[in-house]
This record gives sequence, C-alpha cells and structure tokens, in this order.
Amino acid sequence: MTESSIQRDKWNSKAGFIIAAAGSAIGLGNIWRFPYVAGENGGAAFVILYILFVLLIGLPVMIAELTIGRNTQKNPIGAFLKLFPKSSWKYFGVMGVLTGIGILSFYGVIAGYTIGYFVKLLLGQFDTIAGAVESQRIFEEFTANPYVSVGYLFVFLTFTGYIVLGGISAGIEKWAKILMPILFVLLIILAIRSITLDGAIKGLEFYLEPDFSKVTASTFVMALGQALFSLSLGMGAMITYGSYLSKKDNIISSAASVCFFDTLIAILAGLVMFPALFAMGMNPSGGPGLVFIVLPSIFSKFPGGIYFGAGIFLLLSVAALTSTISLLEVAVSYFVDEKKWTRKKATVLMSIFAFICGVPSALSMGSSDWLSDLPILHIGVLELMNAVFGNYSLALGSLLVAIFAGYKWGVKAVKREVHQFGNEFKYFWLWSFLIRFLCPIAISIILGYIIITGNYF
Ligand code: TRP
Repeated sequence: MTESSIQRDKWNSKAGFIIAAAGSAIGLGNIWRFPYVAGENGGAAFVILYILFVLLIGLPVMIAELTIGRNTQKNPIGAFLKLFPKSSWKYFGVMGVLTGIGILSFYGVIAGYTIGYFVKLLLGQFDTIAGAVESQRIFEEFTANPYVSVGYLFVFLTFTGYIVLGGISAGIEKWAKILMPILFVLLIILAIRSITLDGAIKGLEFYLEPDFSKVTASTFVMALGQALFSLSLGMGAMITYGSYLSKKDNIISSAASVCFFDTLIAILAGLVMFPALFAMGMNPSGGPGLVFIVLPSIFSKFPGGIYFGAGIFLLLSVAALTSTISLLEVAVSYFVDEKKWTRKKATVLMSIFAFICGVPSALSMGSSDWLSDLPILHIGVLELMNAVFGNYSLALGSLLVAIFAGYKWGVKAVKREVHQFGNEFKYFWLWSFLIRFLCPIAISIILGYIIITGNYF
C-alpha cells in the first residue's frame, strides 16, 4: 500500500473539530493555571494583557498552525519536511514533540490530582471541612504522599493512552462533544455561588478592576506564556489537529471559535475562584494548589456540595484528558507517520516515556524536599518544567511558527490554503501584519528581555 492510499482519519464535522480543538485548548490551563497565574501577577491588569495576547498573538498563530497542518496533512515534523525537505525547519517539529511530552509529564501530575480529588470527595473525606486552612492542609498531605502522586499520574496517562489508541473521530471527538458542555454549565453554577458569598465583592474588584501599577515586565511574560499554553500553541498541537481538518472547513472561523471558547472558560474560572478566595480571606497568590484549596471550600457551602464537588472534579479530569490527548497525539502521529510505527506501539511507548519524565514532578509536590526546592534555582521540578516547557518553549515555538508562516512559507501560501472551496480569509491584511510584524517582534522582545535580565522564574 502506498502512503497516499491510506485514508487519513478526519473529524466527522466542523462542529466536531471545533469541539475537539477547544477540548485541547480548554483544560487545566484555564481552570488550574489561569487563576493562579492571574492571582500571582496582579489580577485584572494581567487579565487585560492576557486577552490582548490572545487576540493579537494567539489567534494569528493558531490560524498559521491550523493552515500548515491542513495543507500538509501531517504531524509537525512531517509537515515541515513536506514543505521544505532539505531545511532545518524539521527541528522545530522535533522541539514540538519534545515539548509535548515535557508538558504532558507535569500536566499529568496535576490532572492525576483531579481524579484523586474526585475519589476523595466521593469517599466523603471532605465532610468535615472547616474552611481554607483545613483545605490547604488536606491538599498538602495528599500531594506529599509519593504513592498518591505517582500513582495518579500513572492512572491518568493510562486513560490518555487508551483514548489516543482509539484514533481521532471515534475517541477524541466523541468524548469531547458530550462532556465539554456539561463542564461549562457546572462552572456557571459555581460562579454564581461564588459571587454570592459574603465578602465576594473584594475578589471581583481584584479580578475586574485593573491596577496598572502592578504591571511589570514579568507580567508580560506570564500573560504571553499563559495565552499560548491555554490555546495549545507553539508546539504543533494545532498543526496536528489541523491535519485532520477537512478542506471544506473555514480555518479562520474555526480558529476564532476555539479562541473565543477557551478565553470564555478561563474568564469564567476566574469568576469562580477570586470571589470565593477573597470571601474566605485567602491570599490570591496561593500558587499551583489554588483550585484544590478554593473549590472544596466552596462545595461545603452547597447543599449536597460534596457530590456536586465530586462532579466538578470529574469534569475537570475530563477537560484535562481532552488536553492530554492532544499532547500525546503529537508524538504519536509523528512516530506513526514518519517512522511507520503502529499506533499501538507509538502510544504505549510515548505514554511510558511521559510517565518516566513525570515522576520527578510528581515527587516534587512535597514527597521529596530536594525535588521540591532545587538547589540554586529554588523552585520545584514541577514549576521548572512548567516554566521551561509550558512557557519558554511555547513562546519560542510560536515565534518560529510566525516566522515560518510570515516569511518562509509565506502569507500567500497560507491564503491559498484557507481559500479552498471558496472559503473567505476575512481580514487577511490584518493577519499578515500581525504574523509578519507584531507577533515576531513582540515575542522576541519578551524573550529577549528575559534572557538579558536573567529573570527566568
Ligand atoms: N491548552 C491546554 C490547557 O489549557 C494544555 C495543552 C494541551 C497544551 N495541548 C497543548 C499546551 C499544547 C501547549 C501546547 O490546559
């Protein structure tokens, strides 16, 4: 059989693609990472910068990634090899595959905790919750147990591998379609409860009234990194998802919908978290434990809150799962397309690899003092992985995508691909300007600043 005679799997419909791509984008990045990063970086002013970066950098880069993917019908490495066989652009693809596994390894740890919390709530271990202090103690005790941290990481990666094995339309699309809308509704209910708590107003002020005196250079870095992370950009996940997109679909409106839903869910998660946080007198810069500490404290204020809480954590795990499958899928599609491995072999081996890479992150959440506070750097392994793979690598990757689409492949080639089947490229001039000038310049300034000042974490 020749390569072209093998029919590549496709999304069943445009709505299916949007939901699956939104499923990749929407995940712990929105509900776990966004509120805590916003909290640590000054609240509302960060949120405004974040939204600007989504519109001016995230959306244009997403359009570029989807177009490269659909045009080549390949994984990131294969895509660059197909367009420019002799160039070194393929190494960008290699970086993407590695970044995907890097993110998957620490993301899986946090995702594992969401399953752990689901089980914990169901078993009634939160019945006697006293409030924020107690929730914090429970979280720390939970993550400091190495068997729990590593065990749930294993469980989570097993689920991820299982779904990736099922392939595109049967696995990923089917699940995302059913579960993402439920998560949305539950978040709205939670936000309403959180906003109506006594003392919630201070949290709303923190979240919605910008104080620009709090904006520093690092706010820009964090907001950019968060926007790229949340939209799943900068490592070829959207190249891979774009490769399963049908030629009839309009890339521009698909990309815009994904950015819209992703931002909506992040903003909503902030509306759940900040009012409750201030109502309970907690510190908004609580770090990575934030959702695990704040959410259980809200549940205790609901009738039957424990079961409601269990439902929320279950859906959080699902949101995380629709994201982890996209991280794994990049590596798997590479080995399947380029190295001719079977899907099964690629999935099993890559899941095991991600698990091994994830163990130090899992142990850095309190089980090992050394891994929780690395010498010289003074941060834990999970935070280090988060910064290196979840921030810098994505910024560098997005810079390269912008240069590739804007100059190497060229904006005209992108336009041609978008125009297939009579689809329009609305605001093509604006997109060209952003991808050729604003994106590369802004990202370079931000990365350059970091390199020069040495303010890495
Ligand atoms: N965007 C996802 C989230 O917000 C995480 C994620 C999935 C991701 N795939 C990615 C991040 C690819 C960067 C690149 O949870």
